[in-house]
Amino acid sequence: MNVLLGVGGGIAAYKSAELARALMERGLRVQVVLTDAAQRFITPLTFAALTGRKVITNLFATASSEETLSSAIEHISVAQDNDVMVVAPATADLLARLAYGHADDFLTTTYLAFTGPVVLAPAMNSNMWAHPATQENLNILRKRGHVIVEPEDGLLACGMTGPGRLAETNQIADVVASLGLTSSPVKASKDLDGETVLITAGPTQEPLDPVRFISNRSSGKMGYALAEAAGERGARVVLISGPVHLPAPPGVTLIRVHTAIEMRNAVFEHLAEATIIVKSAAVADYHLSRVPQHKVKKTATRMSLELDPTPDILAELGQKKGDRLLIGFAAETENLTEGARSKLKSKNCDMVVANLVGQDGTGFESDENEAVLVLSTGETIPLQRAPKREMADRIFDQVMKLRLALHAAQ
Ligand code: PMT
Repeated sequence: MNVLLGVGGGIAAYKSAELARALMERGLRVQVVLTDAAQRFITPLTFAALTGRKVITNLFATASSEETLSSAIEHISVAQDNDVMVVAPATADLLARLAYGHADDFLTTTYLAFTGPVVLAPAMNSNMWAHPATQENLNILRKRGHVIVEPEDGLLACGMTGPGRLAETNQIADVVASLGLTSSPVKASKDLDGETVLITAGPTQEPLDPVRFISNRSSGKMGYALAEAAGERGARVVLISGPVHLPAPPGVTLIRVHTAIEMRNAVFEHLAEATIIVKSAAVADYHLSRVPQHKVKKTATRMSLELDPTPDILAELGQKKGDRLLIGFAAETENLTEGARSKLKSKNCDMVVANLVGQDGTGFESDENEAVLVLSTGETIPLQRAPKREMADRIFDQVMKLRLALHAAQ
């Protein structure tokens, strides 16, 4: 896979040399483009020596007319030849120029001609980062579908402490590599061929009487996106779904259930066939174990309900999974990674997808999601906000990598 690494003019530019190396260590072919400002911080020679390739620094060549002609169209061929574009460090100025479509140097011109996934790793002074102008530009770029690898908190070159430090180069390289997998031929190459993926999706509904129920917020979009992705990558898919308003993805065996108990029973009926289990359903944690046969009459007095826990399907799967890969979800409103790590252990999962809920635009009911993957290998992989279908592919990319890692460790 070919990666275009754009380097902006900031003190963190020297870390881009490490990033170039980290990308190459992941088997990626790196083409570096330096802005004018970047060249004040680091020389093209450093990157040429690291990548073994010409480094692009100029939109217009100054030599022969032939060279001028080829350089005049070079940004188009560079845009076509690369699968993913990553800009690190993305300075406040670069973010603004990208957000507004300026095309006044090689990097910004190539950006407009580029149609693949874009990763931006900003780095700047924390006041510049917090400034509404920068945040508005970031929102524009996020809405455009670009992945923002957020800067870290820490001591900055300017002496201030706060957010603005370039994210770890290995983290940026992992994000680029995972995006590349979803946009490269690997996705089309049916890497789940031979697998049977059992997926749970949507909410469960626990009746209180024949007309009322308690439930969780879930549209099923995440689980159905996972089912579609697994099917497209060659897996046989069994989708066990609570009540949602979504059509069955093509080729998927859909089993509709209502309650947590029905979901549990359906899961264990199909467990024997499964090689990978993904538990994205928002299962109600409590139910009424004795549901009245008739509608409970409304009165003016206060009513209290005594609820019992529903079966913990994930925990039971953790005990009975054998050598299947078990992927749990964790819906958290804070401390994403901590909550997921404790679920990973207590439920004996191989991976937990921790997603942020309770915020606009991500988590339940929305079209996009943002998550951290916590793996039994000890790794933690952030997945930046993306449409759920894309998120599903990124999850399966990591599931397949985990399978290889676990096999290798045996
Ligand atoms: O459906 P969408 O609108 O697209 O929203 C997607 C989602 C936010 C619902 C989804 O991404 C998600 O986070 N699903 C898990 C929600 C949840 O119930 O999280 P939890 O932290 O309460 O549960 C942890 C895990 O235990 C989950 O894998 C859950 O399926 C499982 N569980 C929970 C309770 C129970 N009785 N049995 C279970 O198996």
